[in-house]
Amino acid sequence: MKLKRGYIGAIANHKGGVGKTITTVNLAAALALKKFKVLVVDSDPQSNSTSYLLPSHTKIKDTLYELLDKETPPPAIEDCIYPTVHPNLFILPNVIESSGLEMPLTLDFPQSNTLLKETIRDYAIQNYDFTFVDVPPTLAIFLSLALHTSDFLLIPAEAGSGNSLEGIKGVLGLAQGIAKSGNKDFKFAKIVTNRVDRRVSACKANIEMAKLRFGEENILRTPIPTSADFQNLEALKGHSIFTYRAQSKGAQAFRRIATEFIKFFEES
Ligand SMILES: Nc1ncnc2c1ncn2[C@@H]1O[C@H](COP(=O)(O)OP(=O)(O)OP(=O)(O)O)[C@@H](O)[C@H]1O
Ligand SMILES: [Mg+2]
Repeated sequence: MKLKRGYIGAIANHKGGVGKTITTVNLAAALALKKFKVLVVDSDPQSNSTSYLLPSHTKIKDTLYELLDKETPPPAIEDCIYPTVHPNLFILPNVIESSGLEMPLTLDFPQSNTLLKETIRDYAIQNYDFTFVDVPPTLAIFLSLALHTSDFLLIPAEAGSGNSLEGIKGVLGLAQGIAKSGNKDFKFAKIVTNRVDRRVSACKANIEMAKLRFGEENILRTPIPTSADFQNLEALKGHSIFTYRAQSKGAQAFRRIATEFIKFFEES
């Protein structure tokens, strides 16, 4: 499929540990395998998607921290992007020091709201088919920056937890507010269910409830299964589920999720 242009989106949920980073890394890798050129922007100071995707021998100099730090002259964006072990997949990494940017960016609110957009959006959509911004687990400044930069929002939610699905309202409400007032490019928000175990009745019940609440068309049909492979991946720097276990049920799920995801752009 040929896209009209590049698209950029946030992978966000203010709840922690719901699968934002595994979704970012593995959906990005699945699309790269389908020959799309993909960029992951790690906007989380925890730098987890950086740890997954950046091969450990990579010498990094400039990162998102240098790009957003107003105290120093910004580097060229090209100098902040690094190849991964996957052809077609690149990363704009982060470092823990960027947690120190939260306060100045928040104090500079609302002017700072468009800083990420001004810094990366045009470059990303001109040079990549898809850009995914991995966001930290708060309803705070980095989420706001990412939503102001985005064409879409993907919300991973834990299917086994009714509270996790309830929590979607917060990030969805923020995205809708930003779409109305500050970001005219914003097109859609979709939910992807994570840690789905068909044997757990609460999973089925919560997914049915989420369909009623948020609309069946807004929930990806393919769930992310519970799998120890995702936990094992954390120790292997530089890998996705496809380089670790390409035939696993987790890899199969992300291939299907990528196919579903691409359709949103055919339809939009
Ligand atoms: N489907 C799954 N099966 C098994 N383990 C999973 C699954 N999804 C996530 N995990 C594990 O749960 C932990 C949190 O996942 P992940 O880092 O993707 O969440 P997150 O939302 O990005 O967290 P944070 O809010 O801290 O950024 C990781 O150890 C990950 O390996
Ligand atoms: Mg994360």
